[in-house]
Amino acid sequence: MSTKERVLEILEENRETFISGEKLAETLELSRTSIWKAVKGLKEQGHQIDSQKGYRLNSDLLSNSGVKKFLNQEIDLKIFKTLDSTNQEAKRMLIDGQKSKMIIISEEQTKGRGRRGREFFSPWGSGLYLSIALRPAPKDVLMMTIAAAVGISRAIKKLTGIEVSIKWVNDIYYKDKKIAGILTEGLTNLETGMLDYLIIGIGLNVLKPKEDFPKEIKDIAGFLFSKKPDNLSRNQLAAEIINQLMEILRDEQHDYINEYRSRSMIIGEKIEILKLNEKIPAKVIGIDNTGGLMVLYENDISETLYSGEISIRRIRR
Ligand code: BTN
Repeated sequence: MSTKERVLEILEENRETFISGEKLAETLELSRTSIWKAVKGLKEQGHQIDSQKGYRLNSDLLSNSGVKKFLNQEIDLKIFKTLDSTNQEAKRMLIDGQKSKMIIISEEQTKGRGRRGREFFSPWGSGLYLSIALRPAPKDVLMMTIAAAVGISRAIKKLTGIEVSIKWVNDIYYKDKKIAGILTEGLTNLETGMLDYLIIGIGLNVLKPKEDFPKEIKDIAGFLFSKKPDNLSRNQLAAEIINQLMEILRDEQHDYINEYRSRSMIIGEKIEILKLNEKIPAKVIGIDNTGGLMVLYENDISETLYSGEISIRRIRR
C-alpha cells in the first residue's frame, strides 16, 4: 500500500475528527514531510482534506479503504478513477485469467452501458458504477438481476430509510424517477458452450449530477439525494450494496423473490410491451418464482415474459 493510501485509510477511519500530522507520522512511522506530501497528493487526486488543527477528510470520493471499512467480508475489490465501463473491465480481467469473485468500481464511466445497447450516463463523483463478477456463473441470469435489484433496495433502505420501487426487470425507481439500473451479462466458454462467468453491473445515481442529466433522459432520470447527506458516504453505500448482494446470493431458495414482488411498481398495472417495433398493450398479473413477468393481453391470452430484450412502459391512467 502506498503512503497516500495508508494516510487515506486513517483519514477514512476518523472521518469526523481532525488528526494531527504528528499523530499520522507516528502511527505510520514516517516523517511529517512524507505525511504532508501524501496529503498534497491526495488533494491533487480530488480528495478534499481540511487542514486546520491537523487533517480531516471532507469529501466523498470512492476509495478502497473507504469501501473496505464497511464490508463484512474479504473480497477482491478494485477501484478506478475512470473506466470505459466496469462491466467491460470485469470482462477483460476475467479473460486475462482472474479466477475469484471480484468487484470493480469506478468514479466515472466514459462508455457506461445500459440494456439494449443504450448508454448509461455515468458522470464523475455523483453515482456508483460497480460490477460484480461471479465464477462459476450461476445458471439463472434473470434471477441474478432480480437478486441485485433486491440487494440495492435493501441497502438503500438500511442506510437511508428510503423505500424504492422496482420496475421489472432491472430498474429501481424513487419518486417516480429511475435512479438505478442493472446490466447482467454472461461470458460463455466457446469450447464448452457453457456460461463461464456472470457479471452483474449496477449503476446508481446517488447525488444530483453536477451538470444536469442529458436532455434525452432528463424527464425520467432521478437520484437519491439532491445534496450529500452528512452521515452517509458513497463508499458506505457501495459496501452495503455488496454486503446485501453477497447475502442474497447465498439464498438458494430465492426467497427474495417475495420482496421483489412487493416492491414491484407494475403488478396490477396496464403496460405497453415494446417487442421489436411493436407496442402491445397488456396488464401485469404477477411475477413468477423464476422472475418471469406474467401478463394478460387484451384478447385474454396470457404469457410469461423472460427476455431482457423486451422493454415495458407503464401506461399512466
Ligand atoms: C440499464 O438501466 O439499462 C442498465 C444500466 C447498468 C449500468 C451499470 S453501471 C456499472 C455497469 N457498467 C456498465 O457499463 N453498465 C453497468
